[in-house]
Amino acid sequence: MREDIHRGIPSTRSLRPEEGWRALRNMLVPPGSPLMGLLSLHRTFASDEFELSAPRLRMRVAAGPASVKRVLHEQADGYRSRLEGDPVTALFGQGLLVIDGPRHGAVKDVIVRSSTRGVLESRLRDTLPALDEALQRALGQGTISLPDMPRRMTWRALESVYFHHRLTPEEERAHLSDLTHLVHYIGPGWWLLLGKTPRLPKAYHRMRLRLSAMYERALIRPDNAPIHALARACGDEETSFAVDQLMTLLVAGHDTATSLLSSLLILLAQRPGLQDALWGEIQGATGRERPEIRVLDRLPLLDAVVKETLRLYPPIHSGLRSEVESGDRVMVSYFLLHRHQEIWPDADSFVPERWLTGLAPGAYTYLPFGAGPRYCPGATFARLEVKWILARLLQHVSLQPMSRPPRIAMRAALEHRPTVIAVRRR
Ligand code: HEM
Repeated sequence: MREDIHRGIPSTRSLRPEEGWRALRNMLVPPGSPLMGLLSLHRTFASDEFELSAPRLRMRVAAGPASVKRVLHEQADGYRSRLEGDPVTALFGQGLLVIDGPRHGAVKDVIVRSSTRGVLESRLRDTLPALDEALQRALGQGTISLPDMPRRMTWRALESVYFHHRLTPEEERAHLSDLTHLVHYIGPGWWLLLGKTPRLPKAYHRMRLRLSAMYERALIRPDNAPIHALARACGDEETSFAVDQLMTLLVAGHDTATSLLSSLLILLAQRPGLQDALWGEIQGATGRERPEIRVLDRLPLLDAVVKETLRLYPPIHSGLRSEVESGDRVMVSYFLLHRHQEIWPDADSFVPERWLTGLAPGAYTYLPFGAGPRYCPGATFARLEVKWILARLLQHVSLQPMSRPPRIAMRAALEHRPTVIAVRRR
């Protein structure tokens, strides 16, 4: 199988030392992972478009602006989102991430229109007491646990926008544990090579029951614009279709923001000078008051740090499609695109300053939220919640340097292995 996977590598060219080191570092040196290393090695030889193949798997990888644009935009109609039998299809049913064609457009429109910036801002404001509570707990312990703490925070943000239902601490523990099982269920695994759908975990059935109950309760609240819009679009009799959408928003919206927040904390812990500069910017704009979202959105260094983290560690590292005509799988590698050495100077390093020059990245070179018809409908929400949580955190504490960053796993999203960051009160 290894031979098959490397089939695209031409034998006439030998690996230059810096290329070999780059691949090795992406593979072995934390936070690298075997898959990260393998992908970057493959791309070194096989350029912006290549094929990974194994006995039951043929997957074309788009990893440069032209090939990515073709799949996401120019020929988007020639691709389906998911194959029947994939875990994603089993988990999300008729969820937005799975359906194609006009129904996809209609549901997406509802979600995007009902989650306007105004709605998001006012809903997110509800998250602050929960954030402060968790922060105080972290301060008491002198540590922040990853990914637990970001998981709790990003769930609270989703809860305040879509569900309006505060779980008890015990319910929340069960809920987040189930969520983690579901996220792992849809990640890449042996099923890709064996061509066999793994059985849905028990967590799936528990989660559906919980989401159905939350949906019914949220419908009763007159001020829940996104849920009411969703209900109108799904029709009264289609609760199951609406719950598919909620499952999609929950899983797609939770793990991604958790990953981004974890990456930010880990990167900032390693850069005390940058952290102080960021703290100064936030302090200058808000003092110790709870920050207003629209103020945070105008802070250039905060913006640059978030953008650069999304470049280096895009939570959704790849988008999967299947070609309608051939049935072949296609992977759009946002990870490789963001580390393209001809596009990004010092591509593997964390350089937030590159975003302070006023120059915008070229078309189809930076796509942390995707592009085209399947562009992420939660992009505004994610940026707002993460900036807000990070700013609030830095107002209170400084993150202490870690001896070395935890490893990353390329699952459904990029996922840092559990770790602890020491914090000191400011
Ligand atoms: C940092 C946070 C996030 C990142 C980096 C991110 C990234 C992405 C990317 C790259 C895609 C396109 C994948 C592809 O090409 O197949 C996507 C799709 C999607 N995202 Fe996000 N996302 C984030 C947060 C959220 C949030 C908060 C929500 C919802 C509340 C959300 C809901 C979705 C949904 C439903 C889709 C599927 C869209 C479709 O198929 O039309 N995401 N996201």
